[in-house]
Amino acid sequence: MGFPSYCKWAALALAATAAAQTTTSCDPMNKTCPADTGLNKYRLNTDFTAGSLGRWNTTAGTVTTTDLGAKFTINEQGDAPTIESEFYIFFGHVDVKMRTANGTGIVSTWILESDDLDEIDWEQISTWDTEAETDYFGKGNTTSYDRGTTVTVSTPEETFHTYSVDWTAERIEWLLDGVVVRTLEYADAVDGTNYPQTPMRIRIGIWAGGDPDNSEGTIEWAGGETDYTEGPFSFYVESVNIINYTPASAYRYTDKTGDYTSIKATNATISTNLGSSNSSSSVASSRTSSSAKASSSLIASSSASASAAASSMSYVSAAPAYYSSIFAMAVGSFVAGLMQF
Ligand SMILES: *[C@@H]1O[C@H](CO)[C@@H](O)[C@H](O)[C@H]1NC(C)=O
Ligand SMILES: *[C@@H]1O[C@H](CO)[C@@H](O)[C@H](O)[C@H]1NC(C)=O
Ligand SMILES: *[C@@H]1O[C@H](CO)[C@@H](O)[C@H](O)[C@H]1NC(C)=O
Ligand SMILES: *[C@@H]1O[C@H](CO)[C@@H](O)[C@H](O)[C@H]1NC(C)=O
Ligand SMILES: *[C@@H]1O[C@H](CO)[C@@H](O)[C@H](O)[C@H]1NC(C)=O
Ligand SMILES: *[C@@H]1O[C@H](CO)[C@@H](O)[C@H](O)[C@H]1NC(C)=O
Repeated sequence: MGFPSYCKWAALALAATAAAQTTTSCDPMNKTCPADTGLNKYRLNTDFTAGSLGRWNTTAGTVTTTDLGAKFTINEQGDAPTIESEFYIFFGHVDVKMRTANGTGIVSTWILESDDLDEIDWEQISTWDTEAETDYFGKGNTTSYDRGTTVTVSTPEETFHTYSVDWTAERIEWLLDGVVVRTLEYADAVDGTNYPQTPMRIRIGIWAGGDPDNSEGTIEWAGGETDYTEGPFSFYVESVNIINYTPASAYRYTDKTGDYTSIKATNATISTNLGSSNSSSSVASSRTSSSAKASSSLIASSSASASAAASSMSYVSAAPAYYSSIFAMAVGSFVAGLMQF
């Protein structure tokens, strides 16, 4: 809608230049960090219509629960309510059933992000009202902007759709209402070096890409300036269903490669990432079979109707990497010690 896609290319390139640079409180590629708290069971479903945020922490603004689910509202400039899972998963499947917000330049998004800045994204910019976007980053590499794709979605602001990611060591699938709309193979991400492969936390939030204080490129990417007098703008998340393919109470980076084979999953009490621990079990050997099994059964059940949807149009991606800088400016800082979008 509105902008032809070639304009978005240009806008996104600008936006990305202006705003990319995610931060992390401790990058295990560089130093010894606390181990990541894992989800130590296979499944965790959260129904936000039941009146509680469950195992999700609010890291910016206020998120309430309503009959429609968790409600993320922008009332005024600077609002960017966000929640994140209090645990990490290491390969898995995440379904987020959500209805995105109205309003020029308003971005409703959920992402997976790791301590060394691997990232998998879904986002919907209100201005492009029949489009949603998929994206990914490996180790915070933002030197190119050809990773994003656009997917057609019908009435995302009036209809709840399920935006999913199925993530294994071999490939990432993005699914819309159970239909695979994009697949990224490990080798296709700079021979795996830019492939998201480290334990991830899930973040869900809303922000104003069209905030008048943002760079011109970001505003263009978001489809124009946000007019806060048209608000409030609300994004609803009905439920999040998570499968963790490597259930464990903690994940540890055993070296600084950021390679998935270096990650140890353990149920033992440990405090730091680096260094050896005999109580940990190696994930690399067992993970593949269990994740492949789990994901293929998910696919089998969902891809029967899979002929539609994938109108993937490659375009420049600016992505939630700039969530961080925009937020940092607009909101101040998130909870100390947490990474930012
Ligand atoms: C980690 O080290 C790399 C390479 O030295 C550097 O580019 C990156 O900015 C560092 N990350 C953080 C969070 O300091
Ligand atoms: C998240 O919230 C839980 C309580 O629900 C709390 O125990 C935990 O410390 C919080 N985590 C962070 C990182 O703030
Ligand atoms: C970053 O991404 C670019 C473009 O895909 C790639 O050429 C480059 O090798 C990557 N850098 C690293 C350090 O992986
Ligand atoms: C968005 O706008 C449409 C059309 O005006 C309206 O039907 C819908 O309820 C709005 N959705 C939200 C989440 O406000
Ligand atoms: C940790 O415990 C859970 C629950 O018993 C189990 O499913 C999982 O396989 C264990 N993980 C490891 C790495 O031992
Ligand atoms: C850990 O295991 C290795 C090899 O199995 C063994 O050599 C080492 O002594 C063990 N370390 C501890 C602290 O138990």
